Amino acid sequence: MRLNAWLARAGVASRRKADELIKAGRVTVNGAPGELHTVVQPGDQVALDGRRLARQELAYVLLYKPSATVTTASDPQGRRTVVDLVDHPARVVPVGRLDADTTGALLLTNDGELAHRLAHPSYEVDKVYEVECWTQPTDAELERLRAGVELHDGRSSPAVVRRLDGARIELTIHEGRNRQVKRMIEAVGRRVKRLHRSRYGPLTLEGLEPGAWRELEPLEVEQLRSTAASSLLP
Ligand code: URA
Repeated sequence: MRLNAWLARAGVASRRKADELIKAGRVTVNGAPGELHTVVQPGDQVALDGRRLARQELAYVLLYKPSATVTTASDPQGRRTVVDLVDHPARVVPVGRLDADTTGALLLTNDGELAHRLAHPSYEVDKVYEVECWTQPTDAELERLRAGVELHDGRSSPAVVRRLDGARIELTIHEGRNRQVKRMIEAVGRRVKRLHRSRYGPLTLEGLEPGAWRELEPLEVEQLRSTAASSLLP
């Protein structure tokens, strides 16, 4: 495995940051300075600033994100972060983000390769949202959401939209732009009162309470991987 990938896997830094550490001469492999092209073999000893690093096992976690938690590493307002909620020995980080007031399914992993693919817009993982609006959208507005609406960063892709009851709808999209669902709803003249992600690809929240998490089953990891493999990415 390439040294930068090994460092990312060990939870040290992203691959790009790892390249910087390598270029700065801070990483050694078996006592010799690491190079960008260095390949780490099983049994090699990798150190950062002279401290030996241990390789981490890959970990995949599904969290039922509760409200009033942030998806960033730390929050200036002192709110809890999703990472605080997941007491796991591996340094898992969220894939994509949910707004502080959004609840629901959030994947966390230390598998940088998979996370990178899943977060890429061309990766078509279905994300299913239950959206409660302050006022009831009309059928024509739901039709506009289905067709795709104009947002400041480009038109949204066609969505699957289903009315649940009154002002509650279910929206399935595969993009993950910042505040995308809220902006789509605003684009048709409504506002979101409550937003919940009930499904992320194959992952549902069945059996989880808000704030609780579980490890993914090997089959679920395989399902995520095979969708990533069939995406258009190189
Ligand atoms: N879309 C939003 O607007 N917010 C989220 O948290 C997720 C999707």
